[in-house]
Amino acid sequence: MRTPVRPFRSREWFAAPGRSDMAALYLERFMNYGITPQELRSGRPIIGIAQSGSDLAPCNRIHVELAKRVRDGIRDAGGIAMEFPLHPIFENCRRPTAALDRNLAYLGLVEILNGYPIDAVVLTTGCDKTTPAQVMAASTVDIPAIVLSGGPMLDGWHDGELVGSGTVIWRSRRKLGAGEITEDEFLDAATASAPSAGHCNTMGTASTMNAIAEGLGLSLPGCAAIPAPYRERGQIAYETGVRAVEMAYEDIRPSSILTRQAFLNAIALTTAIGGSSNAQPHIMAMARHAGVDITPEDWMVGYDLPLLVNMQPAGKYLGERFHRAGGVPAVLCELLAKGKIDGGVPTVTGRTLAENVAGRETRDRDVIWPYDAPLKKRAGFLVLKGNLFDFAIMKTSVISDAFRARYLSRPGEENIFEGRAIVFDGSDDYHHRINDPALNIDEDCILVIRGAGVLGWPGSAEVVNMQPPDALLARGVQSLPTLGDGRQSGTSDSPSILNASPESAGGGGLAWLRTGDRVRVDLNRGECNALVEPGEIERRKAEPAPPVPASNTPWEELYREKTGQLAEGGVMEMALKYRGTSEKPPRH
Ligand code: FES
Ligand code: MG
Repeated sequence: MRTPVRPFRSREWFAAPGRSDMAALYLERFMNYGITPQELRSGRPIIGIAQSGSDLAPCNRIHVELAKRVRDGIRDAGGIAMEFPLHPIFENCRRPTAALDRNLAYLGLVEILNGYPIDAVVLTTGCDKTTPAQVMAASTVDIPAIVLSGGPMLDGWHDGELVGSGTVIWRSRRKLGAGEITEDEFLDAATASAPSAGHCNTMGTASTMNAIAEGLGLSLPGCAAIPAPYRERGQIAYETGVRAVEMAYEDIRPSSILTRQAFLNAIALTTAIGGSSNAQPHIMAMARHAGVDITPEDWMVGYDLPLLVNMQPAGKYLGERFHRAGGVPAVLCELLAKGKIDGGVPTVTGRTLAENVAGRETRDRDVIWPYDAPLKKRAGFLVLKGNLFDFAIMKTSVISDAFRARYLSRPGEENIFEGRAIVFDGSDDYHHRINDPALNIDEDCILVIRGAGVLGWPGSAEVVNMQPPDALLARGVQSLPTLGDGRQSGTSDSPSILNASPESAGGGGLAWLRTGDRVRVDLNRGECNALVEPGEIERRKAEPAPPVPASNTPWEELYREKTGQLAEGGVMEMALKYRGTSEKPPRH
C-alpha cells in the first residue's frame, strides 16, 4: 500500500480517530452508489471530477463522455471517483454576459472542493471562462488539481475554405453589411464553422485558455490542442485520471506550480500562439488568486515577442492542423530554445516543463513558424494609458496590412493615429445609431463604446470589435479603430483598444468623452488621449454620468459590489485573502 506524502483529507470524514465506523455512516446517507464500505475504509483517495459539460454548456459537453474515461483512469490507479457539476458557463448564450459566471462558478467550486471529502480534482475545461474559473478555485482551496481540456471542434469547411468559430461570423457580417452575401449564405458559413463536439476551433479564448493552462504546467503535455472527437482525447482523459490519483499521493498542489515564473511563461505563450485578448484579465485573475503579482511591464515583455502560430484569427489554420503540428509542446520548444520561457518550472507530471516537452518540436512549419522567422515580430498585447484610462490593451497580432497602411504608416508619424470619436453607450446604442447618416462616420473616425465594463454591463461584454457602418463596408473599409471599456471576442480580428480601466461606470475618463472629440493614439509611447482641455474635462466631470442599467438579479448586485476592474483581472477582491483553505481541518 502506498503512503501519501500528507494524510488524505478525506480521512477526516471517513476515518476520524475515535469515531466509530464513519465510512458506514456516510455510505448509508449518500455515497452508496458504486462504493463499498471496504473501499471507503481502505484509504484510497477521493478524486473529484468537476463536470463543466451539460446541455447549457455545449462547448464542454464532450466531458460528459470523457468523464467515463477519467473514472476508468482513477479506478485503475487506485482512487475513488466522484463527479459533480460546475455552474454552467456558455459564452454565446448567457445574458447579459458569461463573464458574470466566471466568478460565480469560481465561488461554487471553492465551496465544493473545500467542503467535501475531495483529495484531488480533475478540472474539465473548454469554453472560455471554464478554465480560469476552475484554476482560480483550485488556488483558493489548494488541493492537487489537474486540467483536462475537452479539446476544440474539428476544423470547419465551407465552399472549400476553412471557416473558424467566431472569426467566420465577424468576417461574414462585414460581407453581409457590404451586401456581398445573403442572409442564407451567412447562416451556411456560420453553421459550417461548428462541425462537431468541442470548443471553438480558432485560437479564440477557449483554445487560448486551455493552451495557457498547459503552459502553466497544469495539464498533461499536449492536452490542450487534441480535437474533442479524436481518439487521443479519450486516451488523455484516462491518463489524466491516473495522474490525478498519483498527484493526490504526491501532494502536488497548485501553490507549488502557479509561481510568478509560470505566469510569465504563460504571457510569452499567449503572444506566440496569437492568443485571445481575454487572456489578459484571466491571467491576471489566476495570478492574483495564486498570490502572484503581474504588472503592465510584464505584458510589455510579452508584447516584444513574436507570433509563431498560424491559426485564425491572427493567421490561417484551425485546431486540427495545430494539433497535428505539435500543439502547445511544439510552441514551448520554440520559446525554450530561445530562452524566452523558464523550462525549470514544476508541473502536474512531477517533472519540469522542459522535461515534459523534450523532443516534441513541430513537424509542420506552415503552422508553427520558427522563432527567428516568425509570422509577425512584436506581436503581443500593447499596454496603453492616457487621460481616458489608466490601462488598456491592444492585440497587435491581428493588425492587418490594410489597417496598418491606413492608420499606422503616415510618414514621420508611424504608429500614431488620430480620429474623431463616435461615442456609444452600450451595444444597443451602437446598433441603433451606427448607420445613422447624421453621425457622418468616415475613415477619420474612432468608434468608442462605454458602459461595457465590469460594473457598467455588468460583467464586461465582448462588444468593442464594432464594425463600420454599412456604407463604409460597401466602400471597402473593413475596419475602423475602436476603443472601449468592454472586451472583445478572442475570435475577433479587430485590433481594438480594449479592457479600458477604470471603466466609464467606475469613474474612468470614457465617461466624459463626447462624440466629436479628437482622440490621439500613439503606439510608440503606449498612449491614448482625448485632445480636450483640462478645464473642459473638469466641467464635463460635473455633468451627470452616462446611464448604467440597474442590477436585475441578486448575483449581479453582489458581483458589482465585490468585483474589481479588468486591468486587475475582474476578480472578487475580497476573495483574494482566502488561499490554502484546505489546510484547515473540516469542522464536523
Ligand atoms: Fe464556447 Fe467558443 S463559445 S468555446
Ligand atoms: Mg468569447
